[in-house]
Order: sequence, then structure tokens, then C-alpha cells
Amino acid sequence: MRLFGKNIGIAMTGSFCTLAEMICEIEILIKEEGAVITPILSEMVDETDTRFGRAVGWKDELERIGCKPPILTIPQAEPIGPRGMFDVLVIAPCSGNTLAKLANGITDGSVLMAAKSHLRNQRPVVLSVSTNDGLGFNAKNLGILLNSKNIYMVPFGQDNPKEKANSLRSDVSKIAETVVEAMFGRQIQPVLLQYPSIMI
Ligand SMILES: Cc1cc2nc3c(=O)[nH]c(=O)nc-3n(C[C@H](O)[C@H](O)[C@H](O)COP(=O)(O)O)c2cc1C
Repeated sequence: MRLFGKNIGIAMTGSFCTLAEMICEIEILIKEEGAVITPILSEMVDETDTRFGRAVGWKDELERIGCKPPILTIPQAEPIGPRGMFDVLVIAPCSGNTLAKLANGITDGSVLMAAKSHLRNQRPVVLSVSTNDGLGFNAKNLGILLNSKNIYMVPFGQDNPKEKANSLRSDVSKIAETVVEAMFGRQIQPVLLQYPSIMI
């Protein structure tokens, strides 16, 4: 119960293959760590049915495991900072799209608005990356975020270097530990994972 009573925002973006895994991790945060979880869904996750699941299905699952009602729009996310709603904001999974926009100060969606609003209070944002271009176009953005104040990384590595040389993926089972460390202002180490420990 390392996170008992802590208010945590979990922002989910369009790495659809990671969403089912995230439901399990969120359930652990609630049931084993005592966290109070408010989901924030990117517009993509809120609206898109894919081969990994239906949009309505993710929302049903979040409700079933005991999350608060989800934040889905920029106006709903805007009060996060002014009301001091979260102790920590976790973006998991963090898509390449959201990573790139966050690193470049773009705020055109619910999750990015949540991050901007939360960061104004100098509180921690934890990123769990999951993107095929982490060592490609997005490597520079990852570099910016690694060197940014109040941003912490869930340990990540190459998940399939032989077939997807630029792909990076965080180990979602390390989210709770990363959040605990981030609340003390520390980056969990090591931040780089060895293949094949995270290969899917
Ligand atoms: C089935 C499916 C799977 C996807 N998986 C990923 C992924 O693992 N990582 C990623 O960065 N983008 C992935 N994408 C692309 C993102 O969903 C897309 O870039 C989207 O604009 C992300 O928006 P968001 O960051 O606002 O959620 C996937 C798209 C689809 C349709």
C-alpha cells in the first residue's frame, strides 16, 4: 500500500496493443497499492475501435476495476492543475504522437492538457513509452523529455530489436515503483532495460 490515498491520473494514449496490459496494472495500483485512479483518455483512445478492443470496452473495464469517471476532453482536463487534482500524473501508454507533442509544448488534446495543467504545479509526470519510432524520429523528443524537470520515465528498452530496430517499450510492471520514486523526486534506475527482459 505504498500509494494509499494518493490521487493518481492515468492518461492512456493510442498504443492500443498496450491497453489491456494497462488495465491489469491499474487494477494492481488500486487493489494492492491503495491508489485512487482517475483515467484520462486521449481522443484516439476514447473514440477508436481497433483489433485490440472497442473504445467502449476500455471505458467499461476502467469502471469495472474501480476507477473514477474518465476525463475525455480539454475542458475536463483544464482544472487538473488549478484544483491540484493529482499527486502524480502517469501517461501510460505514451504513444510516439503524445511524446512528440509533449516535448514540443503542443496542447491539442485531453492528455496533453492534463500534463500541461498538472506540470504548472511542479508535480511529477511519469511516462511509460510505447512506440515503434522511439529510436527513430522520436529519439530527439525522448532526449528532451529525459532532460526535463518533473518528468520521470518508466524503465524502457528495445522490445524487438531484430524486427523493429527503432521500437521502444516501457516495462509497465514497473509503473508503481517508478511513481513511488517520482514522488520523492527521484528517477528509478536503471532507466534502460536489457532486451529480452521486456520483449513481448
Ligand atoms: C491498432 C493501432 C495500434 C497502434 N499502436 C501504436 C503504438 O503502439 N505506439 C504508438 O506510438 N502509436 C500507435 N498507434 C498510432 C497512434 O494511435 C496514433 O499516432 C494516434 O494519433 C495517437 O494519438 P494519441 O497520442 O493522442 O493517443 C497505433 C494505431 C493503431 C490504429
